[in-house]
Amino acid sequence: MPAYAVIGAQWGDEGKGKIIDFLAENAAIIARYSGGNNAGHTVINDAGTFKLHLVPSGICWPHTMNVIGNGVVVDPEVLLKEISENKLDPSRLAVSDRAHLIMPYHIVLDKLEEAKRGDAAIGTTGRGVGPAYVDKVSRQGLRVGELLDPEDLALRLPEIVAFKNEIITKIYGGEPVDLDDIFALINKWASDLAPYIRPVENLIADALDNDGKVIVEGAQGALLDLDHGTYPFVTSSNPTVGGTLTGLGMGPRSYGGVAGVYKAYCTRVGAGPFPTELHGEEAEQIRVQAGEFGTTTGRARRIGWFDGVAGRYSARVNGFDAMIITKLDILDGWDEIKVCVAYEIDGVRTDQFPVDAATLDRAKPIYETIQGWTESTRAITKPEQLNDGARAYIKKLEELVGVPTKILSTGPRREETLVLEDFLA
Ligand code: GDP
Ligand code: IMO
Ligand code: MG
Repeated sequence: MPAYAVIGAQWGDEGKGKIIDFLAENAAIIARYSGGNNAGHTVINDAGTFKLHLVPSGICWPHTMNVIGNGVVVDPEVLLKEISENKLDPSRLAVSDRAHLIMPYHIVLDKLEEAKRGDAAIGTTGRGVGPAYVDKVSRQGLRVGELLDPEDLALRLPEIVAFKNEIITKIYGGEPVDLDDIFALINKWASDLAPYIRPVENLIADALDNDGKVIVEGAQGALLDLDHGTYPFVTSSNPTVGGTLTGLGMGPRSYGGVAGVYKAYCTRVGAGPFPTELHGEEAEQIRVQAGEFGTTTGRARRIGWFDGVAGRYSARVNGFDAMIITKLDILDGWDEIKVCVAYEIDGVRTDQFPVDAATLDRAKPIYETIQGWTESTRAITKPEQLNDGARAYIKKLEELVGVPTKILSTGPRREETLVLEDFLA
């Protein structure tokens, strides 16, 4: 049985969690491969409302193993809280021994670095994600598996903490972190997390060998990708499909499908170019109606019309073979809906997405106006319930993105989903 990836196609918060929970029923494994607890995935079903930051969105199904891959950065405090809140035992959750740890000094540094950037701040989630990846790349990181050898950690940690404290105090004028406090945390993490720590690439390979379905859960979105996103206004990992291979330890031939999750309009949290951004009443109407406030930080999300130029770019850098459109219901009742079909940059029309942030900042969206619909799409589950206006809108998005739609989401709850074609077939 192959693997299937479900990847954010815009700037995050596309509704990945809702879709994964819907798809996970018969999956052997749901696996996160990138990011950390900068993610916030909302899952709503008969068991309740779950706001997940680290654990994958398969936890509501009893037979699903949830995996946190080596590409993820793990704050054990957050993970242990999610484990206890959701009563997850090691038969339901595995954490890669090679995932890097988000340490208290990473969180301090994330905030200090942002403050220092002033007007050029990225608007990070302040969870220490960027600084943890910096340490991973500069080979100064600590890995989850090292918690199993606290004696070795005890030898290394004083030097690392002393170095970080020099940066915190001397460069940023911040308050140093306390070594003893960190030792106490590490001892707690070591005993509480030990049963969950495993080489997860074996779990995935075994599942695939034994006909188990593996669903790979994206965090963030393609336009926040460190390489393919709107650098420097990006996250510090690779949410795009390439990140799934390095972040889990699996090969490309495992894939049966790669889907991009697209919101029917666009949102972005944090700073950075956003060509179709709306200001004023229209944005406020969508924000309030759709509850567009960050799951992780509570920040108001920026709102814009669907961006077909960015959407097509995202499909190409990921090789999507399916589009999953969420929050269609939010567009119910609009007289007219705009869709960006091209940009005008320095007086020249283009349908190419400029990844350079300064150029993208100058992009003026060229819109096509689509007739809205009065009928409600909320909670519809059958193709024949889809009205002509919504159908035409979806067709337009497919034409722009260049990928067929397989699933439509018509509400936040698991059952508010319309399958046009089986993505897991
Ligand atoms: P994720 O980070 O991609 O998992 O997305 P978030 O959970 O951060 O944000 C998506 C929000 O939209 C959540 O509050 C979901 O409950 C909600 N949601 C998801 N799909 C739909 C939908 O089709 N319609 C509506 N109205 N809400 C949705
Ligand atoms: P999910 O998985 C939306 C954004 C931050 C900021 C930038 C860098 O819920 O879709 P970071 O803390 O990662 O260094 O911040 O990335 N960002 C997200 N935006 N959804 C997310 O995750 C995000 N994760 C990070 O707002 O602009
Ligand atoms: Mg989110």
